[in-house]
Amino acid sequence: MSMAILIKNIKELLQVRNEEELKISGAGMARLPGIKNAWLLTEGDRILDFGRMEEINRLSSLLPEDVQSIDADAKMVLPAFCDSHTHLVYPGSREIEYIDKIRGLSYEEIAKRGGGILNSAKKLHETPEEELLESALERLDEIIGFGTAAVEIKSGYGLNTLDELKMLRVIKSLQDISPVKIVSTFLGAHAIPAEYKGRQEEYVDLLINEMIPRVAAEELADYIDVFCDRGFFTVEDTDRILNAGMKYGLRPKIHANELDYSGGIQIGVKYNALSVDHLEYTGDAEIKALLHSETMPTLLPGASFFLGLVYAPARKMIDAGLPVAMATDFNPGSSPSGNMQFILSLGSIAYRMLPEEAINAVTINGAYAMGLSEEYGSITKGKKANLIITKKIPSYEFLPYAYGSDKVETVIIDGKIMKNNE
Ligand code: NIG
Ligand code: FE
Repeated sequence: MSMAILIKNIKELLQVRNEEELKISGAGMARLPGIKNAWLLTEGDRILDFGRMEEINRLSSLLPEDVQSIDADAKMVLPAFCDSHTHLVYPGSREIEYIDKIRGLSYEEIAKRGGGILNSAKKLHETPEEELLESALERLDEIIGFGTAAVEIKSGYGLNTLDELKMLRVIKSLQDISPVKIVSTFLGAHAIPAEYKGRQEEYVDLLINEMIPRVAAEELADYIDVFCDRGFFTVEDTDRILNAGMKYGLRPKIHANELDYSGGIQIGVKYNALSVDHLEYTGDAEIKALLHSETMPTLLPGASFFLGLVYAPARKMIDAGLPVAMATDFNPGSSPSGNMQFILSLGSIAYRMLPEEAINAVTINGAYAMGLSEEYGSITKGKKANLIITKKIPSYEFLPYAYGSDKVETVIIDGKIMKNNE
């Protein structure tokens, strides 16, 4: 395929990195390297080259005949967002249950009454695969519009072998159909199903003896997840499940410390998790465990915002030298939005992250948290041509600042224009 796009007169090309930079940590997060007044050339699905407009002459030797030219005309270009934590395959929404939340019940109280994840699991059981696929495709189309081009999707509304496999097969179909890059995570340990109430260990046995081997045999998941938190799975459960997953080569990406100091962060690091996610309850011991690990601390400010939880101590984590990624957690219960532009804003509004830190968290560090940062998440020669061209904005600092409005004009995925609001 020889399709090529030349973008000229870019006001600023953002997040320009060399290929060794796979994640950005600590003080480094406050830097956002870029090129002012730039051009960028794609070829096929890759970034071929880029540079400064003053040196555009050297382009002539590179240009293929069928190049499509775009005049960015004072707009900015950055890598498309990498959303490393979602549950965007789900049946129906849960806005009625959210009324109980508005009236004062907590997320945990709603869950204890059979609402929450168990409510979605019941609906999922009754929903045909086709319908799940349709609604998930609509959500993927929506998030492309917001500027996302790589996303992780979890199972976890099945909670029995057949329904978990059904969810994972839907994710697999999405991988085949959608232009978005998708990685898949098995989250059988999302909640204890109603019929296992009081027999939690037996459900963990089922996960280990039946579900994990089937998921691995059908090669349906890249990663394994456990909701390790108060009222859900214990550290001991998590230890057993991750140990079983490891035997099948499933690296963990886990839900940890959303509701309490659960020990989830430490157990994740023990199993060399690619990421530990949520982290509202993170203290000195947790930060110490994460330092010098390969595990990406991933924050989901949408869940704190929507449920009124405390926010993760992002500032403290970055100041301690840790990298941080941010993701939407797109799901019907705790964060019913897949808008990474809003997450970027929450990074600054709620976590007090600098614009540069927030942009690093939703691009390169998000890519790392999916195991994709060798090909996604930055402007680097040879990486995938997954790009956002912004609307006319005064500066990149405007991106987190102007919360709630759409700053994305054009989205390019694998070298093809997917959204164009010009
Ligand atoms: O990441 N915390 C656990 N799981 C999801 C919520 C899923 C749901 O409520 O449906 C989360 O917040
Ligand atoms: Fe989640």
